[in-house]
Amino acid sequence: MTKVIAVHSFKGGTGKTTLTANIAAILAKNRRVGVMDLDLSGPGLHVLFGVKKSEIKATLTDIFLGDATPADVVIDLTQRFNLKKGGLFFCPASNKVEDMLRLLKSGLEVEVFQDTIQKVGEQNKLDYIIVDTHPGVENDTVLAMGCCDALVLVSRVDQQDLFGTAVMVLLAETFEKPTFLTLNMIPPGVRIKDAIKVGQELSQLFRSRFLQAFEFQLDVINNLSRSVFVVDNPDSSFAKKVTEAVDTLERELSGATKIAN
Ligand SMILES: Nc1ncnc2c1ncn2[C@@H]1O[C@H](COP(=O)(O)OP(=O)(O)OP(=O)(O)O)[C@@H](O)[C@H]1O
Ligand SMILES: [Mg+2]
Repeated sequence: MTKVIAVHSFKGGTGKTTLTANIAAILAKNRRVGVMDLDLSGPGLHVLFGVKKSEIKATLTDIFLGDATPADVVIDLTQRFNLKKGGLFFCPASNKVEDMLRLLKSGLEVEVFQDTIQKVGEQNKLDYIIVDTHPGVENDTVLAMGCCDALVLVSRVDQQDLFGTAVMVLLAETFEKPTFLTLNMIPPGVRIKDAIKVGQELSQLFRSRFLQAFEFQLDVINNLSRSVFVVDNPDSSFAKKVTEAVDTLERELSGATKIAN
């Protein structure tokens, strides 16, 4: 069975897409990993993965509009990322405004989404699917939450973000989904030790699990989303932290469902 991890945040710009791509790249070294861009009104993962327009035959948006099947959408990035043992399979969303508007009008059906996840997982023998989402409480988000095995909640240490994260944990609880709190963009004025302590305390308070605390790093933002940072910088402290987070996720999820090999 494929395990589904949704990456979400209450506020926008917390680093969901960046963390999705980086977590996926590390996980895909040893596992078969699918990545879905479910930020249907603001997709961005294709940029980090370096996927060109000409490579996209169909998108998740097309599936949800009834114009494509899961097999049409998956782009195999395994060779591009030079993965010998694992694999990376990307499902893009449409960045055409007319498609976004059509989907807003027609809405997204839970059965179609579930079927897409299942088929993409089975057809590509995936161990994991990571779903990048749109921030806040929206239809698509609630849907991703309902269909995932675990939820990674990304928050800055900003008070607005943390308040919103508590809301998201409450929502996830209604679906009985395990949540993993991740603090991102810890400002230079906050000591990482203190941030970790805050993260651990909040996780207890939120009945969530603490995943990782990432500093705000100039080299990450200066990358300008041109690539997956850990791929170009495998020895960086950021890559080390992403690897720790991946190890924790694998360990914590290993009991939930069996990994297909
Ligand atoms: N730890 C970090 N340090 C510095 N910059 C970061 C860090 N994490 C992410 N960024 C940068 O922050 C910006 C926003 O990141 P990203 O697009 O991943 O956020 P997002 O949560 O997906 O946004 P949205 O809610 O709009 O989808 C990007 O320029 C990214 O490179
Ligand atoms: Mg994003």
